[in-house]
Amino acid sequence: MIRLENIGKQNGHQILFIEASATLLKGERVGLVGPNGAGKTTLFRMITGQEHPDEGQVAVDRGVTIGYFNQDVGEMSGRSAVSEVMDGAGPVSAVASELKQLEDAMVDPDRADDMEEIIERYGEVQGRFEELDGYALEGRAREILAGLSFTQEMMDGAGKCAWRSPASSSCAPTPCFSTSRATISTWKA
Ligand SMILES: Nc1ncnc2c1ncn2[C@@H]1O[C@H](COP(=O)(O)OP(=O)(O)O)[C@@H](O)[C@H]1O
Ligand SMILES: [Mg+2]
Repeated sequence: MIRLENIGKQNGHQILFIEASATLLKGERVGLVGPNGAGKTTLFRMITGQEHPDEGQVAVDRGVTIGYFNQDVGEMSGRSAVSEVMDGAGPVSAVASELKQLEDAMVDPDRADDMEEIIERYGEVQGRFEELDGYALEGRAREILAGLSFTQEMMDGAGKCAWRSPASSSCAPTPCFSTSRATISTWKA
């Protein structure tokens, strides 16, 4: 559960929130709509703790992972849509990337001498991935993306445009994509 309690927030001379309260329960889906400059991003930044309210407080229950996909596209380049969506669920994605790196290392002839060490580490990391329910998470991430009409190729392709919205020919970040991250975070929480 995420609770905003009597939030007051001002940016410069502009008052964005006065005694604003809201509660987001597990499983709920909420869209925040408002004109440019109304304070939507500021509200998200307060939920993630990057900014603090002037008054009141933001309370996030223990065990809840906040997945936040910034509207700035820069951070996505070189990463697949599946890993971005999984990232919303917290530490499991770091374990997933190490697993992938180790898989690449196993078939790399230059690393042949380290094979014993790589295989040992792979066993440890794979155990951790299972503990964190990583295989189910990846399946869920793919299910969500398929529901948004992403093809396999779009899910796995790395790079800025591999994950472009099926409905659009541009590389701009899509609302679908943020939604898929938010959805998987809620599912995990
Ligand atoms: N770091 C900042 N310092 C001062 N003012 C800011 C800062 N960030 C945003 N603002 C101002 O706060 C208001 C709300 O911004 P923002 O939360 O980004 O709105 P939205 O996401 O709804 O478009 C805007 O008027 C913006 O100019
Ligand atoms: Mg904004």
